[in-house]
Amino acid sequence: MALRSVNDLDLAGKRVLLRADLNVPLEGTRITDDTRIRESLPTLRLCLAKGARVLVASHLGRPKGTRNDKYSLAPVAARLGELLGKPVRLAPDCVGPEVERMAGELASGEVILLENTRFHAGEEKNDPALAEQMAKLADVFVNDAFGAAHRAHVSTVGVAERIPEVAAGLLMQKEVDALGRLLSNPEKPFCVVIGGAKVSDKMGVIRHLLGVVDEFLIGGAMAYTFLKAQGIAVGDSLVENDRLDDALAILKAAKEKGVAIHLPVDHIIASAPDAPPATTPGVAIPDGQKGFDIGPQSVVLYQARVANAKTILWNGPMGLFENPAFAQGTRAVADALAASSAFHVVGGGDSVAALNQTGLADRIAHVSTGGGASLEFLEGRELPGIKALQR
Ligand code: 3PG
Repeated sequence: MALRSVNDLDLAGKRVLLRADLNVPLEGTRITDDTRIRESLPTLRLCLAKGARVLVASHLGRPKGTRNDKYSLAPVAARLGELLGKPVRLAPDCVGPEVERMAGELASGEVILLENTRFHAGEEKNDPALAEQMAKLADVFVNDAFGAAHRAHVSTVGVAERIPEVAAGLLMQKEVDALGRLLSNPEKPFCVVIGGAKVSDKMGVIRHLLGVVDEFLIGGAMAYTFLKAQGIAVGDSLVENDRLDDALAILKAAKEKGVAIHLPVDHIIASAPDAPPATTPGVAIPDGQKGFDIGPQSVVLYQARVANAKTILWNGPMGLFENPAFAQGTRAVADALAASSAFHVVGGGDSVAALNQTGLADRIAHVSTGGGASLEFLEGRELPGIKALQR
């Protein structure tokens, strides 16, 4: 998908509204993972080098339309300044007379960060009045916020419809290229490793990918729903009982299309996450026990399938990886991806966090900054933030 690129714009002296996804995890005011800030730097640096006067906009968390200091972008402004090597001032708001004054005073090559766009109730409603106010701040709109591209909000869509010039940032283009490569003519065999707690979250992606993928490796709690649907004992494991029919329908559709769906053949189990773990000899889980990770035979099987693939997508952990007793399956998948020379993409907050925990992220071809956005993209849905750049 060719989008107009920020690379092709003459930005000298122009005011650029740069939408980034700086929605980073915080503990109090401490940023626990600054990946999204780092990933936003190339576009910001490019705009500044081109002589633009840059206003960076982002949301943070879900403050639900009211000002709340807990969701202030102040820690992000500080970290952005450190990474950029120059202070980044935080505007008191994302629109209004004070912000207009600050924007007017910006010199070429200078940047300010606007305060959380979600402090305004109009942001998530794509309110036209708020969009007009934000749009008048800039001559050019650059959207680099792939992680928020599935949201039709003022700062992703409303402004794109009102600012005369629009373009995609470098990260946005990189994400669209990498995820697009999975959907159109991926090199075969194409193996998808999918996990996480709920089948319901990943149903759309599995259905859409059935048309392009050769095999799925399923792990995480969602595997127990697939196993139970086939009458296999899963003990007290987490199961979505209202999705058993959907799981069976996916298994049937996969069979018809010749797509293999691999499920764990053994498990790491315990009566509770803090109880002593055990390994099942086979696929069945006894009553009173819960599955928390894929077992060692499954690890061997999954690693072999990953090693055989030329294209790999990984979304969702194989178990309760935050607990070291249940991290082996997820770790094994990360190791297998890192050892493979296939084109690999990792998406989804949890699998990216697991990957970061292993220190293997730099061995992966593409680690997506999008959680919900990457899933919707892979479901084949048109993302409003991207569509708005195609006008
Ligand atoms: C994300 O974290 O996936 C994006 O920043 C979007 O956030 P949201 O789900 O609150 O819209």
